[in-house]
Amino acid sequence: MKKADLIIRNCGELLTLRGANQARTGAEMNELGIIKNASIVINAGIITDIGKDKDIIPAYHCDRSIDAESRIVMPGFVDPHTHPVFYATRENEFEMRIAGKSYVEISLSGGGIRSSINSVREADEEELYQLSRQRITKMIPCGTTTLEAKSGYGLSTASELKMLRVINRLQEDLPLDIIPTFMGAHEFPLEYKADHEGYIDLLINEMIPQVAQSNLAEYFDIFTEEHVFNIEQSRRVLQAAKDNGFKLRMHADEIKPIGGAELAAEMQAVSADHLGACSDAGIKAMQQKGVIATLLPGTIFSLGMKSYARARDMIDAGVAVALATDYNPGSCNCDSMQFIITLACLQMKMTVAEAICASTINAAAALQKADKIGSLEKGKQADIIILDMPSYKFLPYHFGSNNVSMVIKKGITIWTA
Ligand code: NIG
Ligand code: FE
Repeated sequence: MKKADLIIRNCGELLTLRGANQARTGAEMNELGIIKNASIVINAGIITDIGKDKDIIPAYHCDRSIDAESRIVMPGFVDPHTHPVFYATRENEFEMRIAGKSYVEISLSGGGIRSSINSVREADEEELYQLSRQRITKMIPCGTTTLEAKSGYGLSTASELKMLRVINRLQEDLPLDIIPTFMGAHEFPLEYKADHEGYIDLLINEMIPQVAQSNLAEYFDIFTEEHVFNIEQSRRVLQAAKDNGFKLRMHADEIKPIGGAELAAEMQAVSADHLGACSDAGIKAMQQKGVIATLLPGTIFSLGMKSYARARDMIDAGVAVALATDYNPGSCNCDSMQFIITLACLQMKMTVAEAICASTINAAAALQKADKIGSLEKGKQADIIILDMPSYKFLPYHFGSNNVSMVIKKGITIWTA
């Protein structure tokens, strides 16, 4: 008899998403690799076998087993775009939007990202850590097992390094994997309002080199938009980040189609995010260069807009689509990938299977981690969620409460309903 640390047995529907160590495109996004009445064998936090209950259970002696009670079992959600480190919340802006003000109007009148800057700069690092820790901890019951987290509310060298130290400490202390991104190009801080070149100079000559040297961030991200960094400015800043060893991601074409997706392709960014206003040329460029389109329908929803990204056109054109929450204090205070899946299906007409693929293996690929997470197969990390539903099709259909009943990270149960 073979030995196992843990067997999860009696999985009614096991969504493996097997056969992919990279992002899926086109019709492959619909292939969930379902095994009914299945078991997963785990040793030292890694999946070592997977198959039908009748084949697995008699072949193993295990220290511990979990009865999935015929429920739905799938890879933990990967959330590849979040801004969870901030001090003050901005529910006042939510009310302003209900009253008719737009996100850009609020930003240009002193709200928006700039209004988060002062409180982050002044915040005590320990307090910032505790607040962020509470927020990320709330993502665990929602089924998130890996997330990307950005800096970008300090916009000075010292405060960006403070945010990144917080993110790195969270990665060490919490059971989730947290991938750090330096987003010093999130906005022009108030003191550079009339001197954009001065801030770009600071980014290129001080912030990017110092953050690179600190080794606190894996990715660099920029908000490329008409009212923030334009295409030419973005190109220079992204090139500097690349020269300093960062991998690139972008906030691109969220509101206006200014060529953000095309720039992401030109700079070989791993992911271009938002894309609510992405042009046909942008879709083609992303497909040609293999840039992943990370779509954030929660943001469009929370901004009260209608311009959801054209997920169908992107998938039909062969672009790999991922989904993320964009959890942040301003445009989207949503921490649930389950709700994002509901929005992706209803508002972007993604199939349920495509939305699940976009939240697991494709989201993992958007973080270049598809070789380790995002599917359930031999050799992958045992990041697994159990959902209390009769079929995977309930995931977007039953919304507004939590469908997750257990979260397992690297073979360890980290949350139970
Ligand atoms: O992804 N678009 C830019 N950045 C964030 C918003 C951050 C904020 O408003 O605080 C986003 O939506
Ligand atoms: Fe964002």
